[in-house]
Amino acid sequence: MKIFILGFMGAGKSRLGSRIAGFMDIKFIDLDDEIEKNQGITIAQIFLEKGEKGFRKIEKRVLHQCNKSDQIVIACGGGTPCYEDNMEVMNKSGTTILLDVPQEVLFSRLFNSKQKRPLIDNKSEEELREYIVDKLAEREKHYNKAKIKIDPLNTSLELIKQILTG
Ligand code: S3P
Repeated sequence: MKIFILGFMGAGKSRLGSRIAGFMDIKFIDLDDEIEKNQGITIAQIFLEKGEKGFRKIEKRVLHQCNKSDQIVIACGGGTPCYEDNMEVMNKSGTTILLDVPQEVLFSRLFNSKQKRPLIDNKSEEELREYIVDKLAEREKHYNKAKIKIDPLNTSLELIKQILTG
């Protein structure tokens, strides 16, 4: 079994992904953590040194490396499904689950943790609200290709388990 957790920044991909891996008793990988390990610098430093274009190239490469493993849950970055053929690769290799979280919730989570995220770290409250609306609209067509869509705030772990194991 291979599961890819997708969703916007702040959707809770890593938290839920590691819980799913826990109850399925399989390995968990956070793609951003893998990228940082692979490069030996933080995501913020990668954006600073290589720009977003450079980051996306690395992200794709590391996704392919992680994809070689089986029995794994991979929590992706918010942009992972939206570049190159990443979404097709993930859909071909395993189960893709989108965490669909309301914009207001994303906003309050991200406003309190934006320092860690180079795409939003210098945005004002108003700019962040606008960014979330615009980016979600832009990314929707990619996110909608996920095989499963859940609202993690209103879906119990038990139900997620049932959905995944059939
Ligand atoms: C990004 C999301 C981040 C990280 C990078 C770019 C995005 O991951 O990959 O900052 O494009 O949405 P999280 O969704 O885990 O914050």
